[in-house]
Amino acid sequence: MTRRYRCPTPEDTAAVGAAVGRAAEAGLVVLLQGDLGAGKTVFAKGVARGLGVPRWRYVTSPTFTIHNEYGGRLRLHHLDLYRLETPDEFEDLGFEGVLGGEGVCVLEWPDLFFGCLPPDRLRIRFRWDGADGRLLDADADGPVARRVLAAAGAPVRDDAREERE
Ligand SMILES: Nc1ncnc2c1ncn2[C@@H]1O[C@H](COP(=O)(O)OP(=O)(O)OP(=O)(O)O)[C@@H](O)[C@H]1O
Ligand SMILES: [Mg+2]
Repeated sequence: MTRRYRCPTPEDTAAVGAAVGRAAEAGLVVLLQGDLGAGKTVFAKGVARGLGVPRWRYVTSPTFTIHNEYGGRLRLHHLDLYRLETPDEFEDLGFEGVLGGEGVCVLEWPDLFFGCLPPDRLRIRFRWDGADGRLLDADADGPVARRVLAAAGAPVRDDAREERE
């Protein structure tokens, strides 16, 4: 299953994340792929909001910590693998109980580690669409990811805009 979201502003990107957070089920794994500054952390902040994480505004990039955890309707694990270089390094961190477990995992920079990640995953690729706009292409592999993407809603710009605060 595939959906495309057009996100002219950061709020639109966060709104798509929030829709995913509201639709999320235990075991959801979301992979965020895109260049530096593409909007992955903006999206993750939206997921936190959608999961009802109190103080979601303070969700920060785990570039240095690798793993940040937040309590919401489901526990949110936000991982940033940018600084990891090999699958062995990733395996040594021992995330296998976390990935696909009771909570929701959102991973930035998963690209080198696809072989270590559960097959049921929602992959979102971020591309530039003009100066500020972003195009988000979502692909769901596996039953959890498919249900969540289906429930997250229609990929129309006005839907994203409705979510703005
Ligand atoms: N349409 C948009 N969607 C998302 N972010 C946008 C958009 N337009 C502008 N931006 C800006 O782009 C930046 C995205 O930063 P963000 O930290 O989310 O990127 P990232 O993909 O997590 O980068 P990194 O790989 O360094 O972690 C923010 O400053 C945000 O305000
Ligand atoms: Mg980031």
